[in-house]
Amino acid sequence: MLEKSEQARSPMPRRQSKVTQMFESDAIENLSQETRSFAPSQSFSLDANAQPELYGRAKADPLAFWADQAKQLHWFEPFTTTLDWSNAPFARWFADGKLNVAYNCLDRHVQAGNGSRVALYFEGEPGDEQVYTYEALTVAVKKTTNALLALGVGQGDRVALYMPQIPEAIISMLAVARIGAIHSVVFGGFSADALASRIQDAHAKLVITADGGYRKGKATPLKPAVDEALKGDNCPSVEKVLVVQRTGGDIDWTENRDLWWHDAMSAASDEHEARGFDAENPLFILYTSGTTGKPKGILHTSGGYLTQAAYTHRNVFDLKPESDVYWCTADVGWITGHSYVAYGPLANGATQVIYEGTPDAPHPGRWWEIIQKYGVTQLYTAPTAIRSFMKLGRAIPDQFDLSSLRLLGSVGEPINPEAWMWYREVIGGNRCPIVDTWWQTETGAIMISPLPGVTHTKPGSAQVPMPGVSAEVVDDNGQPVPNNHGGYLTITTPWPSMLRGIWGDPERFVDTYWSRFEGQYFAGDGAKKDADGDIWLLGRVDDVMNVSGHRLSTTEIESALVSHHWVAEAAVVGAKDEITGQAVVAFVILRQDELGDAPEDAEISQALRAHVAKEIGPIAKPQQILVVSDLPKTRSGKIMRRLLRDVAEDRPIGDATTLADSSVMGAIGAKLAGGATD
Ligand code: WT7
Repeated sequence: MLEKSEQARSPMPRRQSKVTQMFESDAIENLSQETRSFAPSQSFSLDANAQPELYGRAKADPLAFWADQAKQLHWFEPFTTTLDWSNAPFARWFADGKLNVAYNCLDRHVQAGNGSRVALYFEGEPGDEQVYTYEALTVAVKKTTNALLALGVGQGDRVALYMPQIPEAIISMLAVARIGAIHSVVFGGFSADALASRIQDAHAKLVITADGGYRKGKATPLKPAVDEALKGDNCPSVEKVLVVQRTGGDIDWTENRDLWWHDAMSAASDEHEARGFDAENPLFILYTSGTTGKPKGILHTSGGYLTQAAYTHRNVFDLKPESDVYWCTADVGWITGHSYVAYGPLANGATQVIYEGTPDAPHPGRWWEIIQKYGVTQLYTAPTAIRSFMKLGRAIPDQFDLSSLRLLGSVGEPINPEAWMWYREVIGGNRCPIVDTWWQTETGAIMISPLPGVTHTKPGSAQVPMPGVSAEVVDDNGQPVPNNHGGYLTITTPWPSMLRGIWGDPERFVDTYWSRFEGQYFAGDGAKKDADGDIWLLGRVDDVMNVSGHRLSTTEIESALVSHHWVAEAAVVGAKDEITGQAVVAFVILRQDELGDAPEDAEISQALRAHVAKEIGPIAKPQQILVVSDLPKTRSGKIMRRLLRDVAEDRPIGDATTLADSSVMGAIGAKLAGGATD
């Protein structure tokens, strides 16, 4: 397996792969025309954490390289073996070592004399502030650890978190980690149903939540969704609910189950000595959408995960803990919030900003105001955000002093060259390197990215695999494609922060990621290598959408739609969207017998959108719902989403010769021409 990437490329001309055909028409062509390239600036290079020799060192001996990275952490017992791949694809990294993830993020910085360094600058949406030094954060986590222990949480127990972006979310994650228990953070924008299914799947014993949080200028309740998720005997594994008081809003209270955070803390001691756990002790489960209706519980463990989160954070963001103020805008409910808000930065002793609210509350310059206020040096955000700021115009960021910024990062979806250039010029003042970082919930940490100060960058390209990572773009047969060709993105060797499996479903883990190409991890993304061999991400090749950098499954939304009594059949596609990258478009066939007195399409659309929000969460709401009388299917009954995407993106319909009934697309077209959209 380790030799795979070294394989000689076949000199034979090859047939175009399916994925190349799929993307050939637009994305690949557009990207091929991108010729701008930026060399690293000398002033940045001189003092950069990452030096060019990192590539050579990693290539010469990848395992020794990773072992060196792991040794930068504190180990209660050192490891002697780096990788055990004998039970592939179930990896074990640093398996005979013992460490404590929270100790690495907290105590060791205090012991090194950095207790008075700020760990978190918290900015609430209403403008309230809290500052936690490493010393204070360590005390808060120790207290929380004792409170959780008192509630009976032990090693291996699952704790669900459903919280706003407040310090207590990070404190809870670290306290769970300190005990050797497993957290499952559920994004606060998910519905009660989505929360319940995640609690059930993991058999969580405890739920930590808040009465609510501030978003879009108002207090948004969270606790009612927890109450609904746990209602009756819906989640029998849950014994207690710990509630942070954030908004002070009225909430229902279940005696003997609910407990105020502040009461639990006032009873808890602030003394707690951390102990080491096996490197492979599970650290967290994070649910993410796949190609089926059921989200996958991606499982990460401790030593390898923390090693790669810290290593990438240090080198990709060039983190200088003594002087930088780093800000990643991701919510802790997503993997970016795990690796680049909680674990990577804290393991590196970083000072960082966390912000509770939305970018436009109370005014559209809020982010730039925060950068000015705290003197933020690195900003890590998503292309969707950049595009929406771009749309509002540069006059807004121009009102603020952004001169503290020295590096900009992008994550979550392909960044188009226009947005990349705007980010560089308007936000970065043409002086900040941009790191476009490709990775996934499953990879745990950044896999493909330029190294600032080392790698040339091109607007829209994630460039090259990180030192220590082997990625390859392959054709349908798993063979590397030559430069200037597209294919499927695969990872060819194990990496420390790789997922260790899907919670409770080892078979699905093997099927989903390891069976498409022998011995390689298939990421689900299409990619292209340009003339220099640099990598350009082209989006998903499976039935997974990417809306605002958030992963949504077409199947999951389809099942939510058909669970409504009006809907007989549904097909969902991701259509290109200027701001959000993709937008959810649904085609539905209605059950005439259930409809009653013939509601208008607009009414149907409204009801179904609300239904999807209830089933999954507002992020999954279709932007458009088209009522149709038939769906395009092959003779074997598979919905041809490609044709529906043509309709949704308003272009001529592609090859429909494999349709069972060739008149279907004509009927859908005619219906659209009638203007019956949402
Ligand atoms: C999918 C993973 C990684 C944290 C956020 C999303 C897409 C991610 C990039 C990028 C192009 C990207 C891929 C990937 N993606 N980063 N820099 N360029 N596409 O995590 O929800 O697990 O989604 O996001 O399609 O497979 P996720």
